[in-house]
Amino acid sequence: MQISFVAPSNLTTGAWVVGATDGGALLPAAVAADKASGGALTRALKFSRFTGKAGQMLEVLAPAGMRASRLLLVGLGKADSVDEKGLETLGAQIVGRLNTAAETAASIEIDVPKGSKVKKGELAAHLAFGAKLKSYAFDKYRTRNLDEYEKKLKTVRIVTPDTAAAKTAHAGLAAVADGIFLARDLVNEPPNILYPAEFARRARTQLSKLGVKVEILGEAEMKKRGFGALLGVGQGSARESQLVVMQWNGGKKGGKPIALVGKGVCFDSGGLSIKVGAGMQGMKGDMAGAACVTGTLMALATRKAKVNVVGVIGLVENMPDGGAFRPDDVLTSLSGQTIEVLNTDAEGRLVLADALTYTQQRFAPKMLIDLATLTGAIVQTLGYEHAGIFSNDDQLVSRVQAAGRYTGERVWQLPLDPFYDKMIRSKIADMKNIGGGNSGAITAAQFLLRFIEKGTAWAHLDIAGVAWQDGEQKPQIPSWGTGWGVRLLNRLVKEHYE
Ligand code: BES
Ligand code: MN
Ligand code: ZN
Repeated sequence: MQISFVAPSNLTTGAWVVGATDGGALLPAAVAADKASGGALTRALKFSRFTGKAGQMLEVLAPAGMRASRLLLVGLGKADSVDEKGLETLGAQIVGRLNTAAETAASIEIDVPKGSKVKKGELAAHLAFGAKLKSYAFDKYRTRNLDEYEKKLKTVRIVTPDTAAAKTAHAGLAAVADGIFLARDLVNEPPNILYPAEFARRARTQLSKLGVKVEILGEAEMKKRGFGALLGVGQGSARESQLVVMQWNGGKKGGKPIALVGKGVCFDSGGLSIKVGAGMQGMKGDMAGAACVTGTLMALATRKAKVNVVGVIGLVENMPDGGAFRPDDVLTSLSGQTIEVLNTDAEGRLVLADALTYTQQRFAPKMLIDLATLTGAIVQTLGYEHAGIFSNDDQLVSRVQAAGRYTGERVWQLPLDPFYDKMIRSKIADMKNIGGGNSGAITAAQFLLRFIEKGTAWAHLDIAGVAWQDGEQKPQIPSWGTGWGVRLLNRLVKEHYE
């Protein structure tokens, strides 16, 4: 889908999308459209329940005397509550509606309502961003009935009096959209195609051309260094485990980086503690944390962010075979701490443990965030609307929370406490890999905390609920891979680390 920013003119073909605020007051472009159609909008309003609430729509097909194929009136809600996130949602809703209608082109002309703090260029840019996110499709494995699935909307013109400001604001957002699409693609790829080495290759090809330094460690290298926890998980797989280190140095030379660490389990069968059939479906997406980290590096590098950031992702496949790690095995992690494995399905924390140690030892980051589809318990707790956040640093938590409110990728804090740490004590080793009772998302986070060194500001995001979901939940995301976290991390970096 092509998006452009154009100055107002009256040569509109395709759909002409205009806006109204809560209470039904038509914005200037809507008044013009109404006039041009001989009052079609005001007449249609009489026969509808449209009141201008956010997300409401009113459509007039083939308006008489006009070149436009349709008029689409959309509600913005109350003028003073129009914000960036709401505009992205609106842009997405418009694209969703027009694709359902098989429209091919649209001009979106929505004025800044009086009383709104959003600037003209920003309004246009965020509408475009939401529109773009909704245009995503993952159709590469369809071979039949392509016409039925095709999104017909190919051209979107955002009409704005300030095209220059819109283009500037949009450049940064387009970079974020690129990162989100990469993350979604990685999550959506089936596990027979996207195994650890293939993920690593894609990270390298996509990122090195943007100036990101990408290193890939294979099993031999990791064995030499002592990645006993990560390698333990991958040992039952025919696919080689990988660790990918991605460095974007757009900030001060030699300045301490911020670090992003991602769980990259390309498929989680549960291992010998094998999952039941229904629970195994979707486990190709158990690398969504790694996908988010990779997508975020793409976004930051594409927009040339003035920040030093390192992304580290542990890529493995958790499979059962004769060589697989067992319940009762004891693994020695890179940190030297020993772990009694009591359930091979609690594998993500083992992968993260070594990735966290490596990241801190090598980079001494000034802040570290890990992202992982770590527990089913977080889905039970928070559902699909919030990721869980666990942290040893209150300032970092408030920063992430604020970025979440701005982008709509929200987080909810859950506790860390010595009480929960006791639950992972082992009878024979330094710790066991499951808590064994309730509060599974918390004991998983306590496990990770044992691999955080004194002085590292750290936050763990459990994204099992938000990383994949169907498109019914939120209008701007597709079914399956959401690319959750790229927007959030980009905003966090922009606000506090650039
Ligand atoms: N990848 C899963 C967590 C998950 C579950 C993600 C559902 C998305 C949807 C993780 O590796 C896992 O299996 N966790 C277990 C841990 C348990 C064995 C302690 C879980 O949550 O059941
Ligand atoms: Mn698992
Ligand atoms: Zn897993």
